[in-house]
Amino acid sequence: MKGQPLRTAVLVSGSGSNLQAIIDATLAGRLGITINRVISDRPGAGALGRAARAGIPTTVVPCPAEGDRAAFQAGIRRALDELEPDLVVLAGFLRILTADTVTAYEGRMLNVHPSLLPRYPGLHTYRRALANGDRVHGSTVHFVIPALDAGPGLLQYRVLIQPEDTEDTLRHRVQRGEHLIYPRAIAWLAAGRAHYRDGAAWLDGQRLAEAVVVDETEASGGGTV
Ligand code: GRF
Repeated sequence: MKGQPLRTAVLVSGSGSNLQAIIDATLAGRLGITINRVISDRPGAGALGRAARAGIPTTVVPCPAEGDRAAFQAGIRRALDELEPDLVVLAGFLRILTADTVTAYEGRMLNVHPSLLPRYPGLHTYRRALANGDRVHGSTVHFVIPALDAGPGLLQYRVLIQPEDTEDTLRHRVQRGEHLIYPRAIAWLAAGRAHYRDGAAWLDGQRLAEAVVVDETEASGGGTV
């Protein structure tokens, strides 16, 4: 993937701080993508306002609170397929996509998950890290595969847990790191430096046995992409 900017769809559910970091880096000309559409499962998601302010078209595919979600999954798939994206970015998207959809976009779908995968797939990662007395926590940008939070990692942000940390303080520091690593990982893809092959993440021709790690201490100098 290089040359033309990557046509990109961003899927969101929440406040959209990661979306904002990606918008800002895109506007600064650092990413090599165009954000063609932001798709949300929640009509009230703050991320939709951020997209609108940046002039990015949005689509809402509401998810029923309970019951049959086949129509929701089909709606998301249709919205993606109509766009023919080169890249699908999950940025705080809280729904699990069907294996069909994930497979259709294999190698072209990224997610950011707030833990140092493979530790803590799933929910409540901050709470679990604190309850276990972990010394480090963080977030991982990874390729998406049908198994939840199990795709190969590309880039991780790692913070040292301080004795006084709460879920909120930890989340705050980790999210600041996400705003650094997510645009960076996307830029690697768009530049053709990173890709997915044979079930693994590759960077600069090397198969990554583990995600590349950025430490909070090293990033606090204010790095960008
Ligand atoms: C992020 O912290 C990400 O790790 C998780 O959801 C959060 C979304 O935050 N998957 P935002 O909507 O980007 O602010």
